[in-house]
Amino acid sequence: MSAVPDPDGTDAVAKAIVEQGYDAVSLHYRADDEYPPGYRAWTPMLTAVLPRSSDVLDLGCGCGVPMSRHLAALGHRVLGVDISRTQIERAERLVPDAKFMHGDAADAAFEPSSLDGIVCLYMLIHLPQPEQKALIHKMSVWPRAGGVLLATTGATAWTGEEQNWLDGGAAMWWSHPDADTYRDWLTEADFSIEHEEFVPEGTSGHQLFLARKR
Ligand SMILES: C[S@@+](CC[C@H](N)C(=O)[O-])C[C@H]1O[C@@H](n2cnc3c(N)ncnc32)[C@H](O)[C@@H]1O
Repeated sequence: MSAVPDPDGTDAVAKAIVEQGYDAVSLHYRADDEYPPGYRAWTPMLTAVLPRSSDVLDLGCGCGVPMSRHLAALGHRVLGVDISRTQIERAERLVPDAKFMHGDAADAAFEPSSLDGIVCLYMLIHLPQPEQKALIHKMSVWPRAGGVLLATTGATAWTGEEQNWLDGGAAMWWSHPDADTYRDWLTEADFSIEHEEFVPEGTSGHQLFLARKR
């Protein structure tokens, strides 16, 4: 997989900010052994509905901690994909039992009905919005019948950039519609939403969805 610049260059600029940003802030974002409380609550939600030895895709896997690591430790076959080479290098070191691939999630391609689960935490919001919608539709093709998607999305609409994010010395870029829009996109893509919650963060927050392929 590789990044494909769009004709007007705008999306490519945003992607470059995100890629270079995570190369710079990888360790500021997540320490090697960090297991934030939110994830501690979500992993049982996911593992409760995954068959044994599932094929799980962790899209925007970051450094693989905690999600890929937790799933691999339970015996699931995990493939992580991330646009940041630094994140992928850390993930390969931190989670030797999973496989990792550098690439743009928007270009990801898998066989239809080849996965049991997809994890996509805090990644969609770094894609231009038309790519987010298209990716949700692609993600609905990859799971086997009854397969699950655990994803965080935006909760309220916002697009913007922050300089020196997490004091990491680099900029970061996000773009998201509101939770109602994500709910519509998921439903249109033939996911049935089994659980949804608002995840507060500072003065705003994200939306968590656990959805199942119909
Ligand atoms: C906020 S971090 C979350 C990492 C991990 N999912 C977690 O929850 O710990 C977002 C991750 O998405 C990755 N990412 C952003 N845009 C991406 C893209 N277009 N394709 C693949 N990965 C991307 C970033 O490099 C970063 O590692």
